[in-house]
Amino acid sequence: MFALSRRSFLKLSIGGILSGAVFSLLGGLYALRIEPRWVEVTRPRIALRRLPKALEGFTIAHLSDIHLGPYVRPQDVRMAVWMVNALKPDLIVLTGDFVYHSARYSAACAKELASLSAPCGVYAVLGNHDVWTDAGKVVRDLREAGVRVLRNEREAVEIGDARLWLLGIEDTGYTGFLGGFFSDFQAMWQKAAQALAGLLDEIPPDEPRILLVHNPDFTEMLPDEQIDLALCGHTHGGQVRLPFIGAPVLPSCFGQKYAAGLVSNEHTLVYVNRGLGLIYPPIRFNCRPEITLIQLKSFLTPSVDLTNPVLPL
Ligand SMILES: [Fe+2]
Repeated sequence: MFALSRRSFLKLSIGGILSGAVFSLLGGLYALRIEPRWVEVTRPRIALRRLPKALEGFTIAHLSDIHLGPYVRPQDVRMAVWMVNALKPDLIVLTGDFVYHSARYSAACAKELASLSAPCGVYAVLGNHDVWTDAGKVVRDLREAGVRVLRNEREAVEIGDARLWLLGIEDTGYTGFLGGFFSDFQAMWQKAAQALAGLLDEIPPDEPRILLVHNPDFTEMLPDEQIDLALCGHTHGGQVRLPFIGAPVLPSCFGQKYAAGLVSNEHTLVYVNRGLGLIYPPIRFNCRPEITLIQLKSFLTPSVDLTNPVLPL
């Protein structure tokens, strides 16, 4: 039988420890320095039931959770703005958390966002980090930069003879962090749900509606089949995603459900952007920052599987 000498055993042990240390160091450097700035452009094609012909192939660039502050620099936002403009979207939407805890970052963030350009405009809603600080200042800075901030408001985007309704619900600041109770969430978001009911009023039943709301948990409170697609952020994909486990920490009342990507709940379709920036701890692993370029398709498009609204590329 093969036996190790004491010296060989020591050499192997030291080698193992050193390899482990180097591997951990490289992994840490990757999660801290590389992945947080390695932006991925995702391109889901999403089929909506209520899509007029004029909107077939319409593109929406979706950015979320920029979090300008100690971990995200103006030049990071500048690069993302350049990437978004290069995609030539028809419309750009921003679903909140422009700053990290303080409105003192909002002017610098808005200055970069002023360069965003799309023929149908740039729309935004605020996230929890924005309303936790000075929401009025964040809104003023964004509006001065040409961003249309929807504060429990709606606007119709006209494309040819068709209309696409954008309904923007502002974050209430209450987040189901670390698995809060949804009953508490519902109580804190009740006024937002009432505001949305008012916004839906008098929209012609055959015209498509897209909801912009930072926190995807709110989509569990939507009325059935009134919203065609909800665009959200907030969860950052968890920032760290482990094989078989997913994200160890996720600010949602629904576990991993709204971590990232397209979710079909019983009321609507929800797309959750993983965010551009990050919060403490400032690391990303297996969860790159995201710019989403959504292409709208009709269910009438040939070869669309009605049970699967995400179309193959
Ligand atoms: Fe966020």
